[in-house]
Amino acid sequence: MLRPKAPLVSVPSVNPPPINFKIGVLDSGVGGLSVLREIHDLLPETPTLYFADQAHVPYGSRSADAIRGYVEAITCFLIAEGAGVIVIACHAASAASLHPLRQQFPTIPLVGIEPAVKPAAEATRSGVIGVLTTQATANGALYRRVLTQYADHVRVLTVVAPELVTMVEQGGAISVQDDAVLHRLIDPLVAAGADQLVLACTHFPFLAAGLRRVSDLPLVDPSAAVARQVARVLAPRDPAAGDVNRYFTSGDAATFRGALKRLIGEDAEVIRATL
Ligand code: DGL
Repeated sequence: MLRPKAPLVSVPSVNPPPINFKIGVLDSGVGGLSVLREIHDLLPETPTLYFADQAHVPYGSRSADAIRGYVEAITCFLIAEGAGVIVIACHAASAASLHPLRQQFPTIPLVGIEPAVKPAAEATRSGVIGVLTTQATANGALYRRVLTQYADHVRVLTVVAPELVTMVEQGGAISVQDDAVLHRLIDPLVAAGADQLVLACTHFPFLAAGLRRVSDLPLVDPSAAVARQVARVLAPRDPAAGDVNRYFTSGDAATFRGALKRLIGEDAEVIRATL
């Protein structure tokens, strides 16, 4: 009878590290960097991949079908680059694509973002909250669901402000004219008695200083909660598998690199990627 020979070398039995352990983050442009900085603060050891779809920004004025197509292509790109978790750091993209993508990629944890109506509805004393957003988010079923679930007892004033996405992509609220735009959008909310302002677009936290110049409304931003959710779904990784954070844009790499430095203080190489 043949007996198997004893192995010459004994191989310790360890679980192989997961191959895809990076956090992939996507947005139409620079807005998702407001979520990325929270992820970097909470999970400084985990490498991230960021994709800015600046060839198609703004998403807010596009159809749900078009946005879904872009997000699907970016998700495939990020998985191919090593992402094991995908963060849709964009309200418009989450509204258009989170549910279909979960069916399409059942083994990849997908973390989306939804308008932070719940904390604002809990915190309001006047019973009136303002929501600053884009058209695609305001039109989406996700926003309707959030309103029905958390805000049936409060008055919600929705302000669609695509000009603020452009303002952030172009550098932020820096001029007197920018403040005039913010006043035009925010003053009616204050006049109507709003005492909370939900930032339902990931570009808008970068306008925090300008928004505070024009009113004293508390700003409600869900990005830290998104980072905590990423930490919950993240698979353990091999601590020796060191890697750097990487940045991609479908637009102009030099312009994005400047925004990266200005908005979150990162100075990194940016790769132009076409999908
Ligand atoms: N930052 C995105 C959001 O949260 C998209 C804005 C846009 O491209 O219109 O909705």
